[in-house]
Amino acid sequence: MSKEKDAGVSIDPGVEESARQRAIIRELRDEFTQKGWNKTYWITTLGCQMNARDSEKLSGILEEIGYRRSEAEESADLVIYNTCCVRENAEQKVYGRLGYLKNYKKRRPEMKIALCGCMMQENLVLEKLKKSYPQVDLIFGTHNLYKFPELLQAMLSSGERIIDIWKEHGEIVEDLPSNRKYSFKASVNVMFGCNNFCTYCIVPYVRGRERSRRPEEILKEISQLAQDGVKEVQLLGQNVNSYGKTLEHPISFAQLLQEISQIDGIERIRFMTSHPKDLSQDLIDAMATLPKVCPHFHLPLQSGSSRILEKMNRHYDQARYLDVVRRLREAVPDISLTTDIIVGFPGETDDDFEETVKVVRDVQFDSAFTFLYSKREGTPAAAMAEQVPEEEAKRHFDRLLDVLKEDIHAKNETWVGRTVLVLAEETSKHDEGMLTGRTPHNQLVHFQGDRALIGSVVPVKIVENQTFYFTGERIPSE
Ligand code: SAH
Ligand code: SF4
Ligand code: F3S
Repeated sequence: MSKEKDAGVSIDPGVEESARQRAIIRELRDEFTQKGWNKTYWITTLGCQMNARDSEKLSGILEEIGYRRSEAEESADLVIYNTCCVRENAEQKVYGRLGYLKNYKKRRPEMKIALCGCMMQENLVLEKLKKSYPQVDLIFGTHNLYKFPELLQAMLSSGERIIDIWKEHGEIVEDLPSNRKYSFKASVNVMFGCNNFCTYCIVPYVRGRERSRRPEEILKEISQLAQDGVKEVQLLGQNVNSYGKTLEHPISFAQLLQEISQIDGIERIRFMTSHPKDLSQDLIDAMATLPKVCPHFHLPLQSGSSRILEKMNRHYDQARYLDVVRRLREAVPDISLTTDIIVGFPGETDDDFEETVKVVRDVQFDSAFTFLYSKREGTPAAAMAEQVPEEEAKRHFDRLLDVLKEDIHAKNETWVGRTVLVLAEETSKHDEGMLTGRTPHNQLVHFQGDRALIGSVVPVKIVENQTFYFTGERIPSE
């Protein structure tokens, strides 16, 4: 037993910290009211769903303080970039925008610019920002996002530039405000960080070691979401297969799914991402037996070549990947499978690439994200001798896209004429009379419908296959 417990003062540091940040939010809110401030904010989110979820937290904090969402970035009082560094182009975008915003700030010096997210955890980036981007007022990282109220207060009261980056993560801080994008579906973090160190990937360096949220916290959050009308939850983690292993009372991801399934009101459960190397039979069985768990699995392949997979430190080979696919299909016959593939990893030859094409042809994915390998300083792959020439990687990339398009189109044809249940999410960007939503298999469907249907599950007959989405017709209810 620890000393604190003996003394009867066992305060969870995460709980204490959350109370402290909430107190600062109240102080700032009072200050905003007293001074009659009418400030606005704008957040641009780059990168993955982890960042999207973090931005919901930032905007929740800001709105509780009294900031309103701005109509445009250029007129906002506070502009935030929640950055990504998984590939170089995501970083270039941020530098480009900072140059653009500099002009606006010249005219309106009260505009404040804040940067956070994964890119801030890179030393070289931080040095560059400190030296050459004086227009940035606040910089924080991925490990201290929960301290945003305190850092914001310091920036507003001092008028000075505030930089706070932690090299390592601290406690998981629960229960801070959050402003969710949709009222009927929500993302929920189940774990943070990654321990896998795939040799091309920077995520473990910028998001820290793997740690899981306690199941009680997750279940409490999801029960509250369900009470607020949320029907679909997406559980987020870089590798959900290792969920719960390091908790004081270990629990598996499959058990967590089982518990979430029991929450009334939750109709659909999704998750991202799981790593093929340690996909457990328990999880496959949970997919088959829990009706609320959607029949969709995102299973990143990265490469089909066993030789390259080894150099990527992925801990599986082509045969093992194909075996996982077989077991998933055995358990859930019409499961939809999606993937991530990297083209142009150092040393990738024509033969290696053909192995990737072979796996793609064998598996027949429902959809795929394909990426040109991007060299990330500090990762083992960046130091590998045989970087692939850009033209060669691009040639492979284009061919892979052609193969995928052909296969995805052919596979989608089997869905035409079928009736699917679409959770209507929003009106189409191009046509106000059209709604867009997703099926349990995660297919995107556009159909004619009134915006009053947003948030409901609507039966739709699939009419046309547009390769990356479907168009359908709503089946009128009796
Ligand atoms: N944890 C997830 C992936 C997170 S990053 C997983 O393991 O599946 C999302 C995707 O970005 C990866 O699956 C990979 O395909 C791609 N990616 C990561 N690093 C990359 C790099 N250096 N260059 C190109 N693509 C990369
Ligand atoms: Fe990156 Fe690999 Fe971790 Fe995914 S599992 S985040 S690709 S290191
Ligand atoms: Fe996500 Fe990009 Fe960070 S992919 S974890 S936002 S580096």
